[in-house]
Amino acid sequence: MALYSEKVMDHFRNPRNVGTIENADGVGEVGNPTCGDIMKIYLKITDGVIEDVKFETFGCGSAIASSSMATELIKGKPVSEALELTNKAVAEALDGLPAHKMHCSVLAEEAIKGAVKDYYDKNGIEYDESLFPAEHDCESCMEH
Ligand code: FES
Repeated sequence: MALYSEKVMDHFRNPRNVGTIENADGVGEVGNPTCGDIMKIYLKITDGVIEDVKFETFGCGSAIASSSMATELIKGKPVSEALELTNKAVAEALDGLPAHKMHCSVLAEEAIKGAVKDYYDKNGIEYDESLFPAEHDCESCMEH
């Protein structure tokens, strides 16, 4: 069996929603200190719905494919739904990632959460702090 699914290869070769959004309503940036990869997500939000989303990822192929798929999954969805997106759901939508590459999909989940938090903060919207874990535990994430 090939190491990477066709969907991973497709999203890696033809990533969707690459770029930036000027005056974005929310921006989230995360990095994995172990591999050094960085992901940035920009959200345009209208009436609580993600009208547009773009990403910039300086990272491995799985991180690029994960960002691309994650942006596709949240585009047009309410912000609350984007917050529920897990890295596992991103990996499943890509027809799986090799075990040692699952942590790459974690960046996508965290960058989206960071962008939503930024949007909430900028607009004075109250939220449950527990939705946004302050410290990322890289070690446990690398084990998955
Ligand atoms: Fe760093 Fe994939 S190896 S995100």
